[in-house]
Amino acid sequence: MNQTTQALKKVYLKTFGCQMNERDSEGVKGLLLERGYGFTEDAEDAEVILYNTCSVRQHAEDRIFGRSGLLSRIKKRKPETIIGVLGCMAQEHGSDFFRRMPALDLVCGPGNLREIPELLERLYDSRKPITAIDRINDMEYSMDHIDYRSHHVKASVNIMSGCDHKCTYCIVPMTRGIERSRPSDDIVNEVKGLVDRGHKDILLLGQNVNCYGKKLSEDMDFVGLLERIDKEARPERIRFTTSHPKDAHERLFQAMRDLPSVCEHLHLPVQSGSSRILKRMKREHAREWYLDRIEEFKSVLPHGEITTDIIVGFCGETDEDFQQTKSLMEEVQYSSAYIFKYSVRPGTPASKLNDDVPEEVKSARFEEIRELQRSMTFNKNVQLIGKELEVLFEQHNPQKNPKAFGRTRSFKRVAVHSQSALEGELKMVRIKEVLKETLLGEVI
Ligand code: 5AD
Ligand code: SF4
Repeated sequence: MNQTTQALKKVYLKTFGCQMNERDSEGVKGLLLERGYGFTEDAEDAEVILYNTCSVRQHAEDRIFGRSGLLSRIKKRKPETIIGVLGCMAQEHGSDFFRRMPALDLVCGPGNLREIPELLERLYDSRKPITAIDRINDMEYSMDHIDYRSHHVKASVNIMSGCDHKCTYCIVPMTRGIERSRPSDDIVNEVKGLVDRGHKDILLLGQNVNCYGKKLSEDMDFVGLLERIDKEARPERIRFTTSHPKDAHERLFQAMRDLPSVCEHLHLPVQSGSSRILKRMKREHAREWYLDRIEEFKSVLPHGEITTDIIVGFCGETDEDFQQTKSLMEEVQYSSAYIFKYSVRPGTPASKLNDDVPEEVKSARFEEIRELQRSMTFNKNVQLIGKELEVLFEQHNPQKNPKAFGRTRSFKRVAVHSQSALEGELKMVRIKEVLKETLLGEVI
């Protein structure tokens, strides 16, 4: 199949899940654009339909399986359509997917994504279904060297892939394999290239960035990497996600304070405020240990912001455990939190425990904690009214009102009414009002 023929083919690519999946999809888009494919927002209009999937909760999986009927209808109407599932669910279910979703042609795990153009060509030559999931533990992650970026201001950079932690609820080690770090030269060069092309906000990605460097032959850790990027690539802003509390330490917080480009925002998933539950989750840290890290962070960076992930209704969670999660949230005063109801993941160690918190209790705890976080976020945001904050503008949408959006260094979302496109500009903004989670301000 040559470039001109591919130019006629339109791809619909939909992404579920985390920022790593977003970055993978961006890479897939880059690879396919290079081969002459076009893109469409309408699945019905596409010659190739790709879902980049997430396995982290059953709900995310149901959203994919729920499309089986739609995909079969599209396939019946246009049998030449190629349909593929990519990413974590592909890795998890492998060729079993063909049984559950008969319209599928392709199942491709995260480690095999680089092969997508060749896999599509093979499918055009012979319509035999393909499963590509064998590269899950390759030392070099398949999507590390793809330049294509869809945003002009922000850019994500993989610094590592996989995870060696053994949190009992989590499927990620099964879908993304063992932990591997990229050599620091590769990362620094990639960030330099992005800075040269005008990117200002660099997000370093990994399942647990604090473990960066552990298996590398060079003598490098995450703080060393931040120092190198800050000094050698000099981006306007560096962010990173996600961190495991066990591996977060004062040296990191000091680096966040001392390196000019590193933003003062720490995403530190706690999952539960109860040491008993943390132990069942095999998080390898207790409540007190986590709170000590938070105290350290606050003393080094008094104006820094902390966000988190919380799971409610994990196996054996009592009301007392839940109250401890609430009290921890109040003590930390997170600026925002992602809250999830526990969902059993097949094959994980916790799948052998009794999922004994009834669904209504999980839902009630979820709502209670969401409300608690909403009011804490609001109260914290109200304190910012009248303050002047540095905002990097990411988006200008003439159809919206307010039209321009950006982020503070501590990751607060700020909107302003502006007729001129501010995208990519750094401005001081005076905060006037709080609109739910967004701050409304005016450029000074
Ligand atoms: N059930 C519910 N939430 C989960 N997470 C991970 N695994 C599960 C699960 N089985 C949440 C954790 C993690 C975030 C990415 O997803 O809070 O930090
Ligand atoms: Fe990301 Fe985890 Fe979902 Fe995979 S399972 S897409 S790593 S959140």
